[in-house]
Amino acid sequence: MARRAGSRSSSSALDPRKTADQSANAAGPRAAKAETAGRAPRRKGRSRGPFSVLVLSGPNLQLLGTREPQIYGKDTLADIHARLSTLAAERGASVDCRQSNHEGELLDWMGAAPSRGFAGVLLNGGALTHTSLALYDAIRAIGLPVVEVHLSNPEAREAYRKESKLAPACVGKVAGFGANSYLLALRGLLDFLDAKR
Ligand code: DQA
Repeated sequence: MARRAGSRSSSSALDPRKTADQSANAAGPRAAKAETAGRAPRRKGRSRGPFSVLVLSGPNLQLLGTREPQIYGKDTLADIHARLSTLAAERGASVDCRQSNHEGELLDWMGAAPSRGFAGVLLNGGALTHTSLALYDAIRAIGLPVVEVHLSNPEAREAYRKESKLAPACVGKVAGFGANSYLLALRGLLDFLDAKR
């Protein structure tokens, strides 16, 4: 089953209390030296430790495995979380996977993500994807890279699933590959974070 809040500690060195300006100013003379030596400057305020990724799944996704398997596949959410943990470990990262049927709980987890040291978020908002301005605002507010994830391809389904309220605030989206969407999204997010180090 899905893990609950705080069930896994984060190992990221990200200090979310620093502003972008503080981070840039803190780069200092060592960064200048690195630049002249042809190396990428190390910037303080960016994560240098293993990345910790928050994985959130919204309403009804606890039912995966039995929920319309012709659309969502036969993998349970626990299966997906286990595969994410394995992939994260292979990449020297970690995941903290949670599911809730309650928009407010998802918002609380999103809002706390920076102060808990998460480097980014995978978000399958379920049906909230198509309705939640609050989740869109939360993604914008936390300033972490968020990847939208779907097992199915909502744009190829009913008209009311074609619009995602979340997509304009996300760095990317993976949809339509069943359980593999989560794994592809994790790869994409970790590559994105690596490129920014
Ligand atoms: C979903 C797609 C949504 O439209 C739907 O409401 C879900 C699952 C997916 O993963 O394919 O609950 O997010």
